[in-house]
Amino acid sequence: MAGYLSKSIISIIIILAGAIALIIGFGISGRHAITVTTLTSAGNIGEDGILSCTFEPDIKLSDIVIQWLKEGVIGLVHEFKEGKDDLSGQNEMFRGRTAVFTDQVIVGNASLRLRNVRLTDAGTYKCHIITSKGKGNANLEYKTGAFSIPEVNVDYNASSESLRCEAPRWFPQPTVAWASQVDQGANFSEVSNTSFELNSENVTMKVVSVLYNVTINNTYSCMIENDIAKATGDIKVTDSEIKRRSHLQLLSSEASACVSSLFAIIWVFLPLLSHLMLK
Ligand SMILES: *[C@@H]1O[C@H](CO)[C@@H](O)[C@H](O)[C@H]1NC(C)=O
Ligand SMILES: *[C@@H]1O[C@H](CO)[C@@H](O)[C@H](O)[C@H]1NC(C)=O
Ligand SMILES: *[C@@H]1O[C@H](CO)[C@@H](O)[C@H](O)[C@H]1NC(C)=O
Ligand SMILES: *[C@@H]1O[C@H](CO)[C@@H](O)[C@H](O)[C@H]1NC(C)=O
Ligand SMILES: *[C@@H]1O[C@H](CO)[C@@H](O)[C@H](O)[C@H]1NC(C)=O
Ligand SMILES: *[C@@H]1O[C@H](CO)[C@@H](O)[C@H](O)[C@H]1NC(C)=O
Ligand SMILES: *[C@@H]1O[C@H](CO)[C@@H](O)[C@H](O)[C@H]1NC(C)=O
Repeated sequence: MAGYLSKSIISIIIILAGAIALIIGFGISGRHAITVTTLTSAGNIGEDGILSCTFEPDIKLSDIVIQWLKEGVIGLVHEFKEGKDDLSGQNEMFRGRTAVFTDQVIVGNASLRLRNVRLTDAGTYKCHIITSKGKGNANLEYKTGAFSIPEVNVDYNASSESLRCEAPRWFPQPTVAWASQVDQGANFSEVSNTSFELNSENVTMKVVSVLYNVTINNTYSCMIENDIAKATGDIKVTDSEIKRRSHLQLLSSEASACVSSLFAIIWVFLPLLSHLMLK
């Protein structure tokens, strides 16, 4: 009986302590956390890329600090503070290649422009923000590769009626498949020939696929896809004209929001939860 009583007193004390910690946690984190949101997108090697990040804006530009970091990289990717860039702590890898949109910072846009994207720019980035309201951060998984829109033409050189689909730059090596509107679900792998030719920088490749024995009045689609992008080129040849359409879509674009105060609450709850589970 006495043992049970002391046990429940201890329980009450622990729960009370937890509740107090929770209140304190709210008090601290409520003032010191801001929402930061990143959006994942892929970078096209050799072109400019954007690492997207937004935050709750602050009315004073001079109070805003933006820090971009990359996992496994010493120093900073980019820093913006007191209304201007501060590149004193920047890693050499990013020298001369980064910029924030200075006029957009005041509205809560901390996106980073990365010039001349390299394959090695892939990785986990952190967008860290400090304003007069508090601080917050969010991670972003940046993928790099090469992708381009295919162009489909009638291949006049071939012995049979053929179509030729060409896209100048892809990496990693994509899969190529053909489809037609008339024979939906047909497998064209036996009547097509796809080749990959390494471009001069030895990374990206030119994709060429030829589809044999095509018929008039049918719409054919050449579909190129790897783990970062998907592109389609359509063609329809009739007696009087050739119609074309193409489309490029980046895969796995997703937003990730992070509110630091949420973590503060979880940290406070953890000891409470483990106590309740032990009972
Ligand atoms: C941030 O600003 C840049 C440049 O104006 C723009 O391209 C980008 O879409 C903006 N990002 C967001 C999330 O508004
Ligand atoms: C077709 O043949 C001509 C001459 O033989 C050549 O110059 C041209 O590059 C060829 N076109 C294609 C798409 O192979
Ligand atoms: C088409 O057929 C080839 C073999 O002829 C096979 O390897 C391939 O997986 C098939 N593609 C589809 C989409 O079924
Ligand atoms: C195209 O059609 C012709 C005539 O039907 C046939 O002989 C030839 O093998 C076909 N080509 C391919 C690549 O299937
Ligand atoms: C496929 O294309 C390659 C390169 O254009 C050529 O060398 C090869 O003979 C072709 N294969 C077939 C089965 O047509
Ligand atoms: C690409 O590779 C070839 C052969 O391996 C080499 O001669 C050439 O210098 C390389 N080009 C570049 C840009 O690295
Ligand atoms: C293609 O369609 C046009 C118009 O619908 C028609 O006049 C023509 O005969 C068709 N050609 C073939 C080969 O089916």
